[in-house]
Amino acid sequence: MVNINRRKFLLGTTSFSLLPKIGFSKSIKEKLPIFQILDLTEGITEKIKLNLISSNHDFGTGIASPTLGINSSHLGPVLRVKQGQTLPFEISNYLDEVTTLHWHGLHIPGDVDGGPHQEIEPNNKWFPTLKITQQASMNWFHSHAHGKTAKQVYNGLVGVMLIEDDASMSADLPMQYGIDDFTLILQDKTFSNSGVLKYELNETTIEDGFIGENLVINGIVAPVMQQVPEGLVRLRILNACNANFLTLSMQKGPLNVIASDGGFLNSTVKTKEIVMSPGERYEILVDMKEFDINQLLVNYEIPELKGLKGLKRELLYDGERKIVVLELYRNKEPGFIGSLPNNLGNVTPPNRNEGLITRSFKLEQNTDVNLKNYANLSDGICGDLKAMMINGKPMDMTYINENIKKGDVEIWRISVDDLRHPFHIHGCSFKILQQEEKKPEAYASGWKDIVHVDGEKWSEIIVKFNHEASKDNPYMYHCHILEHEDCGMMGQFTVS
Ligand code: C2O
Ligand code: CU
Ligand code: CU
Repeated sequence: MVNINRRKFLLGTTSFSLLPKIGFSKSIKEKLPIFQILDLTEGITEKIKLNLISSNHDFGTGIASPTLGINSSHLGPVLRVKQGQTLPFEISNYLDEVTTLHWHGLHIPGDVDGGPHQEIEPNNKWFPTLKITQQASMNWFHSHAHGKTAKQVYNGLVGVMLIEDDASMSADLPMQYGIDDFTLILQDKTFSNSGVLKYELNETTIEDGFIGENLVINGIVAPVMQQVPEGLVRLRILNACNANFLTLSMQKGPLNVIASDGGFLNSTVKTKEIVMSPGERYEILVDMKEFDINQLLVNYEIPELKGLKGLKRELLYDGERKIVVLELYRNKEPGFIGSLPNNLGNVTPPNRNEGLITRSFKLEQNTDVNLKNYANLSDGICGDLKAMMINGKPMDMTYINENIKKGDVEIWRISVDDLRHPFHIHGCSFKILQQEEKKPEAYASGWKDIVHVDGEKWSEIIVKFNHEASKDNPYMYHCHILEHEDCGMMGQFTVS
């Protein structure tokens, strides 16, 4: 049975009394943390070691929080690799629970995809070898352990993989890592009054996904600042929130978008703002010839606050706010002097007539299930408890939902019963035909692996799978609100 009375987002009026309190507001802006980069584009001589560890990390609240990390106390390194390379990984799980490491965005076969079937037990290793066949793009890797993804990602099992190719490496674009080329991971987090990272499952945070009070950029509570040379500055941005849709804009001038999930756009798209759902990536250029200072701003949903009596639940979702996450200051150094590029990619517009098969997917919550009972489970989240489903079926590790023929062009139509959800497919990049019953924005018209769907407004994509996934190691499609994914809003498919 599907509940049709669940609330909708109400946008617009902001009630300031509903803004979350930040108990440790910062007067001095901290510097943007720069992730360690493992640049493998020059060649690989040994196994690439990624250690998944439990640790402690101070998010800038003055106190260390227990966290997870990859070769680091929180989050992971940036891997820079090149199309054509074969990457031999050695992934060690030093956590006290099972995990997996999924390569989100990569076009690789199902057996190395790192989904819920490729579990790594505690104190065990996994040795996937990845052949990088796809074009230049920003991808990421994160935990995908069934029923545990939300919590493990929230705590820090996230890293970025930048794929380059001949064209991207010789392109007229800024590419000095940490100087004029920055990788940004945006997440929303809630902290206790003393500043310790908090994660809580209750009926609301399962139903809506966990929405954090504070925006965190590269592991530090925003805002942060960064000095940059005079010229174009490249920001490669990942929304790694569990559930928050982020709306990005610049304080001055438009956003100059050059790439989306799966690679470059044909040319720079200038836009006032971009909406990034959880899991999406965009690359933008900021023109620091023009301005001394510019700011990256983010609007995001704030969580429902407890203890407010007499208000309807709907009202608590009104509050959206625009905050500064990154302030760029121009220094005296000469920087990248090129201009905004206009021939980056070669993305032909999708032609829906090419689609041989149409499949429909409906994302739903199973209202027969009492979420309250599941929120109290000690071991992460619902897992196999079937609170969420697609086409009436909750995720079942032993059931293959779809079988797809390699190389076929297909149309997938996605709809939902309520709320806004980001739908993600493994093993491919696709193009969006319709996003929420509209032609996608220009910035979302290139290669994507996530499309969002809102309320009764369906979305449609055109996709082709070029790699294989067997029934023992299938690919996943799912909602990228991680609590929904963990609760069963996921399905499995083979490609052969
Ligand atoms: Cu980003 Cu199935 O995952
Ligand atoms: Cu994925
Ligand atoms: Cu969802």
